[in-house]
Amino acid sequence: MAMQEPASHDLVRKPDTRPTNPRFSSGPCAKIPTFELTQLSDAPLGRSHRAAVGKAKLHAAIEETRDILGIPADYRIGIVPASDTGAVEMAMWSLLGERPATMVAWESFGAGWVTDVVKQLKIDAEVKTADYGEIVDMAAVDYDTDVVFTWNGTTSGVRMPSGEAIPADRGGLTICDATSAAFAQDLPWDKLDVTTFSWQKVLGGEAAHGMLILSPRAVERLESYTPAWPLPKIFRLTKGGKLIEGIFKGETINTPSMLAVEDYLVALDWARSVGGLDGLKARADANAQAIWDFCDANDWIANLAADPATRSNTSVCLKFTDARITDGAGFAKAVAKRLEAEGVALDVGAYRDAPAGLRIWCGGTVETADIKAMLPWLAWAYEATLAEQSEAA
Ligand SMILES: Cc1ncc(COP(=O)(O)O)c(C=O)c1O
Repeated sequence: MAMQEPASHDLVRKPDTRPTNPRFSSGPCAKIPTFELTQLSDAPLGRSHRAAVGKAKLHAAIEETRDILGIPADYRIGIVPASDTGAVEMAMWSLLGERPATMVAWESFGAGWVTDVVKQLKIDAEVKTADYGEIVDMAAVDYDTDVVFTWNGTTSGVRMPSGEAIPADRGGLTICDATSAAFAQDLPWDKLDVTTFSWQKVLGGEAAHGMLILSPRAVERLESYTPAWPLPKIFRLTKGGKLIEGIFKGETINTPSMLAVEDYLVALDWARSVGGLDGLKARADANAQAIWDFCDANDWIANLAADPATRSNTSVCLKFTDARITDGAGFAKAVAKRLEAEGVALDVGAYRDAPAGLRIWCGGTVETADIKAMLPWLAWAYEATLAEQSEAA
């Protein structure tokens, strides 16, 4: 009986080593490298979050966040429901409408906030957008309007290079979704009136809760302006025209998960152990650099971010540039599937609305050794998929 020839894509040699942790998802992101469930044993489970023990944990989560991120003492930090989305929505619904807005988007999450403000809140807004890979000219924005933008576009891998374009003496508020930037990139607090992020992103925490950070100017707006629309209890930050200060001390609007709070506290402890914000930034930078070097060494793959100054060090988005690829979306999907099937890179397909390609999370909870061990597999998956494509042709 004649032996069947192996297909050429099966002959592409696999690398010898594998990443220890193949989790490169852009959210929920890899947990801290030291994570074990037993680390959560101090969670006050089955106790009221309003008991002294619960309140102390929530308060610690707020103040540890302030300390590690260098948030000014006069900024309020609240733990709010519904993850980053909850925090952004609360801010937009509570603050916008006092003056015109400028909605800025260069990828899909920013685009979601545009839809909310224009179609749901029906606010008079100028919409400024850029394609995936590009960024909006932030110096051309009118900062006497309220400006809503995303610091790091998670689905395009394009981030703000700095806050320089934002004037200190602006008339409007800046509302910044920083969920894939916080704990990996510098955030200029004096330029940000509202900043939001979730625990599930850069520190590999659990979903469910969002962080809402307010400048004194944002608080002033909350206390001097009442939106024309009704606000559900879950969004309400004021009572009788005054800020509900308790929210910013750990008296959450409704019941939080104390297990998720404990997990966040453990992640913050770990963040401190690797050098705090500087240590986390260096880890993300090293991870992203390993991928950028790989792109420089291979002419078939490139960063989606057009300008190197705007390349994200967390959600690194890549596109295949080999002219022999006939079906871009199918090719990228097949590569991601191969990597997943080998158990060497999980969840690395581009976001569903983004251009075809890959997205590899490089935040601080990912080990550089794992990125470096994964990249030869990416080369293998590319070659095998290309061979398969030519067999099918
Ligand atoms: C920029 C950005 N905004 C908002 C979200 C939504 O976050 P969550 O699901 O934590 O509400 C994400 C999630 O990936 C994001 O990347």
